[in-house]
Amino acid sequence: MRQAAPLWRGLSASLLARRAAVPWQATRLYSAAAASQGVDASKLVIQKTEKPAELKKPEELVFGNTFTDHMLAIEWDKSTGWGAPKITPYQNLSLDPATCVFHYGFECFEGMKAYRDSAGRIRLFRPNKNMERLNKSAERIALPTFDSSTLVDLISKLVSLDSRFIPNKRGYSLYLRPTMIGTQKTLGIAAPGSAMLFVIASPVGPYYPTGFKAVSLEATDYAVRAWPGGVGDKKLGANYAPCIVPQLAAASRGFQQNLWLFGEEEFVTEVGTMNMFAAIKDKATGQNELVTAPLDGTILEGITRDSVLSLAREKLVPEGWKVSERKYTMPELWEASQEGRLLEAFGSGTAAVVSPVRTISWKGKLVDCGLKDGEETGPIALKMKEWIEARQYGDEEHEWSHLVE
Ligand SMILES: Cc1ncc(COP(=O)(O)O)c(C=O)c1O
Repeated sequence: MRQAAPLWRGLSASLLARRAAVPWQATRLYSAAAASQGVDASKLVIQKTEKPAELKKPEELVFGNTFTDHMLAIEWDKSTGWGAPKITPYQNLSLDPATCVFHYGFECFEGMKAYRDSAGRIRLFRPNKNMERLNKSAERIALPTFDSSTLVDLISKLVSLDSRFIPNKRGYSLYLRPTMIGTQKTLGIAAPGSAMLFVIASPVGPYYPTGFKAVSLEATDYAVRAWPGGVGDKKLGANYAPCIVPQLAAASRGFQQNLWLFGEEEFVTEVGTMNMFAAIKDKATGQNELVTAPLDGTILEGITRDSVLSLAREKLVPEGWKVSERKYTMPELWEASQEGRLLEAFGSGTAAVVSPVRTISWKGKLVDCGLKDGEETGPIALKMKEWIEARQYGDEEHEWSHLVE
């Protein structure tokens, strides 16, 4: 079998030298796919299902188990670019067993939601951010890129066609899973010559059907999720499978999530598949600080994280809060907790919006994250959930909300 040329063979010596000389995030050498021709939304073909599914009762929905009638798919080929977008009945993919996605992990994805507002209209939440992130992920694994707003328009068409699946109940939504895979049939390791972008949709219920339930975390120090120069800031399927065993280990000891640490300093990075926030009272000044890890390449650029930071700057800073994207460590959280200065901690992500944290198990100690007995959330996590949901469900008209119909 002829060995495929390694990805780096085409890179000139000067480019490689530049790669070595400049910081990681400033280099962009991964657009290995041929210059992508744009997706043409005007070529959309819609084939409606002849067997519409019966709707489940909202309270019977289990996350990610039920799918809508249709899916969106767009194929890409290195020589011809993006083909006509198709909305078809939801169906199996048929792929040769040698397809590169199965062997080398050419896969990236997004998680976003469509919400029904009180007037019955459908809204997406900051969908351009998801498309920008999908483009960054795709580019990093030599898959083609696309125009974000064109994809938002096409996703809107899918959501609109399947809008009957979105329950008319607060807390419910349609979870959308845009996915891109390399589809070339080859065992050679190279940039895929063909790819497919598809979007499937799954109606989901509220993450906390009976109100917040604070979670207890186990700090994972024997495995790392991401590292400098790695791909932890991209939403690649390959980042997720290795996280399950540490998650199971934490669960076996009674913890709902694991907390990913990094380095000898034990920097706090992310919680399960959420970004992590801590509200800490400063030891010297007494000022309240909302802190989260910086986007240094090891942290996923959460859209909820960005929303929490924006809202904190908008609404908490005028009340005297400091908002920081900085490195912080487990010893710092432990000390703050011991001194009664750890006010609260929470994870942030599309699934739950915010997830309050009660305790963190670390080095045989239990770090108390500030919730009183009987409390399931601190005031900042609660306010954040309310503020973000107001914009997701269109209670507050805001540029973050994208009206579908
Ligand atoms: C590793 C990781 N961190 C953080 C997040 C939160 O990101 P978002 O707020 O965009 O859902 C997710 C979920 O997508 C994730 O998988």
